[in-house]
Amino acid sequence: MTRESWRTRVGFILAAVGSAVGLGNIWRFPWMTAENGGSAFLAVYLGIILLVGVPGLLAEFVIGRRSQRNPAGALFRLSGSKSWGAVGLFGVVTALALLSFYSVVGGWIFRYFLASFTGSYFGSPGAYFEGINFGVEALGFHAAFLGVTAFIVLGGVRDGIEKATKVMMPAILALLVALAGWAITQPGADAGLAFYLDFDAAYLRANLLDVIGAAAGQALFTLSLGAGTMITYASYLGDDRDLAVDGSTIAVLNTGVGVLAGLVVFPLLFTTFGELTGPAAAGGGPGALFVSIAGAFAQLPLGGVIAVAFFGVVSLAALSSSISMLEIPVAYLVDEHGVSRRTATLSLASVILFTGGANALNPALFDFVASTLVDLMLTAGLVGFLLFVGWVLGADALAEYATGAGARSRSVGPAWLWSVRTILPLFLLGTLAVNLLALAGVSL
Ligand code: TRP
Repeated sequence: MTRESWRTRVGFILAAVGSAVGLGNIWRFPWMTAENGGSAFLAVYLGIILLVGVPGLLAEFVIGRRSQRNPAGALFRLSGSKSWGAVGLFGVVTALALLSFYSVVGGWIFRYFLASFTGSYFGSPGAYFEGINFGVEALGFHAAFLGVTAFIVLGGVRDGIEKATKVMMPAILALLVALAGWAITQPGADAGLAFYLDFDAAYLRANLLDVIGAAAGQALFTLSLGAGTMITYASYLGDDRDLAVDGSTIAVLNTGVGVLAGLVVFPLLFTTFGELTGPAAAGGGPGALFVSIAGAFAQLPLGGVIAVAFFGVVSLAALSSSISMLEIPVAYLVDEHGVSRRTATLSLASVILFTGGANALNPALFDFVASTLVDLMLTAGLVGFLLFVGWVLGADALAEYATGAGARSRSVGPAWLWSVRTILPLFLLGTLAVNLLALAGVSL
């Protein structure tokens, strides 16, 4: 049986951008930005995307294309060591944990999309969200979101993932540009834009470690790093691609969409409430987007139409990410255990129906998985991948990096490998330590 592959270069880039662009940009990014000083957070976040995110993306690409395997099979095959295989398997497990909470949020998005047609949440957004976020109905919407995800993954790499993301990504971009253009011209939008874009050095000085920790976690999450999604997607890639160019393109597009989402969210928050009461009023928790933005739509002229467009966009963005999570364990079962794509997809979806169901029924579990656990697992996972590329692959990694690359990309290869070996794992271990200390109740 020959292994699947992407049909076109654009297909791969759009699928990878589709994985990166998701609830991380639209739901988590504004919430993190609002809680961490607005512009100060944005600046640190952009720096980390460039200095840690892009080299990290390249590391996952190199592993994936070199091995043509899922994360577990990739690390095992390239090293011949079961321990490294276990590091890859950790990524597969992380993907399952990710999808278990992501699909619950995806279910909320589906529900808000439908509710936007009738405006059911317009009257009291806060109470509406509290009423639907957890419980049997949330479980039902989680099942629906998971079902659509599984349906696309069943179609395979070319006919499922590549086809779906090719339609979804341009639609997302067009709608977001239109929404942002509308939002920033609303009266009162200036205050929101100032909070978002005027650099706040004083805040940064006072909260440096916290901001760096939050920005690093967000950077990994938004670029889909640390679980092996990018290993898996690059494993369907041929030798003629310039990984550095593709990786930079993906990072730029993803960051652009994130910044664009901020241009929609922050003006709306300020126009409606006159101050940043949105995320703060929702306790800064997972309800931030739903309560604040939904509240904004409820008060704006033509709010219903805009709400339908907005939650439609977010649904597509969430799906193009959730399929990339499910594809990791599917690839693992197909590659390593000779299972058919169909059996793999259906059995994994049934497992996630239950693990995600537990999150849909238990808010405390959801909070722990969605924030703490996932951040820790992604950081640990990416440290493993970087050390593997730097110290196990070494010269091979450099050769793989250079394959298909132009002279300019090749010339930065050695600097990339050096940073992957040393400074990047150290930096990430530092943020891991800060986060673990915070979990243990120690604040620095
Ligand atoms: N990046 C996606 C988002 O922002 C989420 C995501 C998809 C992800 N696949 C991942 C995050 C793998 C970490 C690892 O919504």
